[in-house]
Amino acid sequence: MTTAPTRPAAAQGSVGTAHTRVEGRDKVTGAARYAAEIPFTGLAHGWLVLSTVARGRIRAVDADAALALPGVLAVLHHGNAPRLVTDYPGLLGVPDPTAVVFQHDRVPHAGWPVALVVAETPEQAREAADTLAVHYDEEPHDIAFSAARPDSYPADGHTPATTEKGDVEAGLAASAVVVDAEYTTPEEHHSSMEPHAATARWDDGRLEVVDSNQGSTWVQGELAGIFALDPSAVRVVSEHVGGGFGSKGVRAHQVAAAMAASVLGRPVRVVLTRRQVFSLTGYRSPTAQRIRLGADAGGRLRVLEHRAWNQTSTVYEFVESATGPARVLYDAEAHRTSQEVVRLDVPSPTWMRAPGEAPGSFALESAFDELAEKCGVDPIELRLRNEPEVGPVSGLPFAGRNLAACFREGARRFGWAERDPRPGVRRDGRWLLGTGTAAASFPVGAGASTAAVTAEADGTFTVRIAAADIGTGARTALTLVAADALGTAPERVRVRIGDSAFGPAWIAGGSMGTRSWSWAVTEAARELRERLALSGEIPPEGITVRSDTTEAIGALARKERHSFGAQFAEVAVDVATGEVRVRRMLGIFAAGRIVNPLTARSQLIGGMTWGISMALHEEAVRDRATGGHYGADLAGYHVATHADVPRIEADWVDDTDPDDPVGIKGIGEVGIVGAAAAIANAVWHATGVRHRALPIRPDRVLTAGAAGA
Ligand code: MOS
Repeated sequence: MTTAPTRPAAAQGSVGTAHTRVEGRDKVTGAARYAAEIPFTGLAHGWLVLSTVARGRIRAVDADAALALPGVLAVLHHGNAPRLVTDYPGLLGVPDPTAVVFQHDRVPHAGWPVALVVAETPEQAREAADTLAVHYDEEPHDIAFSAARPDSYPADGHTPATTEKGDVEAGLAASAVVVDAEYTTPEEHHSSMEPHAATARWDDGRLEVVDSNQGSTWVQGELAGIFALDPSAVRVVSEHVGGGFGSKGVRAHQVAAAMAASVLGRPVRVVLTRRQVFSLTGYRSPTAQRIRLGADAGGRLRVLEHRAWNQTSTVYEFVESATGPARVLYDAEAHRTSQEVVRLDVPSPTWMRAPGEAPGSFALESAFDELAEKCGVDPIELRLRNEPEVGPVSGLPFAGRNLAACFREGARRFGWAERDPRPGVRRDGRWLLGTGTAAASFPVGAGASTAAVTAEADGTFTVRIAAADIGTGARTALTLVAADALGTAPERVRVRIGDSAFGPAWIAGGSMGTRSWSWAVTEAARELRERLALSGEIPPEGITVRSDTTEAIGALARKERHSFGAQFAEVAVDVATGEVRVRRMLGIFAAGRIVNPLTARSQLIGGMTWGISMALHEEAVRDRATGGHYGADLAGYHVATHADVPRIEADWVDDTDPDDPVGIKGIGEVGIVGAAAAIANAVWHATGVRHRALPIRPDRVLTAGAAGA
């Protein structure tokens, strides 16, 4: 027995001070093990076989030759696979059978999993997978996405597909200035550094999965539903995760691994290749968007209409809610937004970092720049003139909206006042130079979570919460939050995450992770601190306090809760080659209390880098003939690399969420929002030419010419 630590509250809190990642040394020395690296005794390896046709039926799977190869243990497919539950309502309460493999003979898209070959080694499984003969009855497929399709329909499965007030047509007729433009963004992919991987084993009717995911209790719940188990019979562990960005929920590989492990009675690992990641783990749908703005001569909006279309699969209706920013950023007497989807023979799209807001802000913030140009009003002044008092659609008050402060601080630091508003007038040798800006917003929220905090007998503390650190620094942020709530130093706090055995917790998603988990950790830690103040002794097993934030979060007042930001970019455009270089970027954010400035800055800079990538590079191209991708790898699909990325600065203004115990909002996604628009607006300023289709490839720059050239 030792005496309870009775440290007084640290005069200087840890939240708000820079702290390197608590697992940083493990990661850079290779001691941190990722899902595919964790050893298992008696491990077998599964290799997924994906369809080569884009639509049709599987007529036959001829596995004899594959089964005769050395080391091959089994070939699973729709003809012999165990039956699973396909209509289990997932996280959003809507069944998504995208990952429930081998349950029918229908092929809904190219790259649909049709079989799993299991062998003693990955090489044997792969070789056998290559020899597997799958025969199809092929049907004509349709992957042609556009806004003009007559079969597009309002996305009624989501909240709400259409919002409307006032008379758009009358408002436009009465407007001194009108912008009416269409924008497109392509299919984009998450491209996490660590491909998806899972190992499953069964023990006496209990399923254990070692995985790489964005929420271990999330995946636990989905697998329990799919395999008709009580969640308590499923344990999912995911200690280190090399990126997720929305793609790491339940996917075909965990389900296939668990299925094969049950059939073989031994642990089975399924690792996706980079190419398979492109087919099996979701993506950002291409979007088509039409924006109509009507304003008075001074740029005050009378009309804001934003219509957005995206594609989805025949398996699941996913909505890329690109109208999100329009519902939050600006008001108008006539205000209308709508979301429509087109069902095609393509894989199911999913959340990808700033789902909705990333492509939506490109269109909306480009249109605002066009309006600024037409009105002859400075783009920042235009936004300040259109700051709403309350949520334009909801009518609810904002829980802090410091967008104007972001623009003022950003303008000062970027040197906006010296900008010549005329396009195509600045040159640096063969380069035309321009600057642009755009607003950013992303919703913030909190999800119910549970946590346990233990005062150990040696005077340290252990926090247990099924949080996920997908590379963000969440584990470190929670260490700082717990230290402050306990009134101790971060060095005395150990945070254990990524294990569904710790109880339900929100996912690393929706920019809600750190806020949701911090809430639960703070509640438990504060109560523990009070208990320790009363009890003098800590028993050998420690003293543990558990929390559950379900009630507190349910009682949150309804408000418009968002993180905001102002993005700035300077570009150079070579009109002879069509090359666009981003020369510098600055983002100033109002994103609540910043827990760890070191990792927060990385998050924001990472988001802005995505913005460069989205503006200039990323584009997955499908072959109309096969329905599959061209170049589904990191050579064919270019993401911004060091050579593409200039000096990026990210910083923030004072901001807080008044209703959060720590004041946190969320920073995971707002960094990408508006970034592509700021770059596109800078390209217009450099050249005098608008680019309404992303990415702004050299051929598009060349075809468009340049007013200033
Ligand atoms: Mo993010 S797209 O909520 O993982």
